[in-house]
Amino acid sequence: MRVLGIETSCDDTCAAVVENGRQILSSVVASQEQVHAKYGGIVPELASRRHLECILPVIREALEQADCSLDDIDAIAVTQGPGLIGSLLVGLSTAKAMAYGRDIPLAAVHHLRGHLMSPRLNGEKLPDPHIALVISGGHTALYRVDSPLDVTLIGATRDDAAGEAFDKVGKILGLPYPGGPQIEKQARGYQGEIIPFPRARFKTGGFQFSFSGLKTAAAQYIEKKRRQGAPVNVAQICASFQEAVIDALAGQCFTAVESEGLKVLAVSGGVASNTALREQFESLAGPRGVRVVFANKKYCTDNAAMIAAVGTLQLNQTDPPPKAALDLNAYARLPLG
Ligand code: KG4
Ligand code: ZN
Repeated sequence: MRVLGIETSCDDTCAAVVENGRQILSSVVASQEQVHAKYGGIVPELASRRHLECILPVIREALEQADCSLDDIDAIAVTQGPGLIGSLLVGLSTAKAMAYGRDIPLAAVHHLRGHLMSPRLNGEKLPDPHIALVISGGHTALYRVDSPLDVTLIGATRDDAAGEAFDKVGKILGLPYPGGPQIEKQARGYQGEIIPFPRARFKTGGFQFSFSGLKTAAAQYIEKKRRQGAPVNVAQICASFQEAVIDALAGQCFTAVESEGLKVLAVSGGVASNTALREQFESLAGPRGVRVVFANKKYCTDNAAMIAAVGTLQLNQTDPPPKAALDLNAYARLPLG
């Protein structure tokens, strides 16, 4: 089955063509970073407008790169939520119109199911059950994955997502948007003293995360330096903040792996492209006999290949696959597991 995936949940317009849920024939991402950079964060109204401009050219490009036309597409998979409602509606309406027009099946996919699928893309072997961490700009969630469509939420952030904290601290430091990759760049190679920023610890209530205290501590530290007229060591702050985030994430992940009696940890989402995080997770995993499987960096951030892959699984659950449901809606909030 050849599936066209469409993903517009946030600020990237994405389309991909995936064969049999495994082989990625194309994956096109039109980033809106430049649109939002001057505002230091995503402006939802601008995001929807840009999706409208980009969606058809991006789909055309995905078909072209896959060397096929709409005639060769057997079904469409689209992100239904969670995300920015205006952005989601652009992708969903396009998908509905195309599926109706071509009379082909349509799968509505949960965005986080897509991220959870991303470490399996391109034929990567990922044994089930495993523990999976999704760390992005909008989510920080820990799942037990028994199969790609059977997932249980076992932990989440109580406040900011990890990527959101990176972006906010980046903004306070005056770094370009998005802050995550910029903080990683500034921290790279820093060897000096580390500022002991706080790590939230939870004794009860599952595998929770919290990044707002850490973000506030970093903000207050920077503010104090500026008030005193003292130099702000950007590399030191970035390295210290990044280390605190990685520590907090790794602590809960490895505790979860151990307490569930599992040996595999999968990591996906935009923050999973952070090299320091990947190295730290690898070094903690080895001595514990745990295998860490990261999504390929190309598929860590939002993309439509992961949506097409999940959509293929969903469509294969019924024979014949369901036809497009024209009353399908998008949801800004959509729980999973
Ligand atoms: O998965 P994603 O593209 O979008 C959401 O679904 O939210 O993730 C985007 C997030 C942003 O917050 C960005 O700053 C963060 O991922 N990010 C990083 C890195 N690359 C992207 N954070 C830390 N280090 C990076 N290298
Ligand atoms: Zn995402």
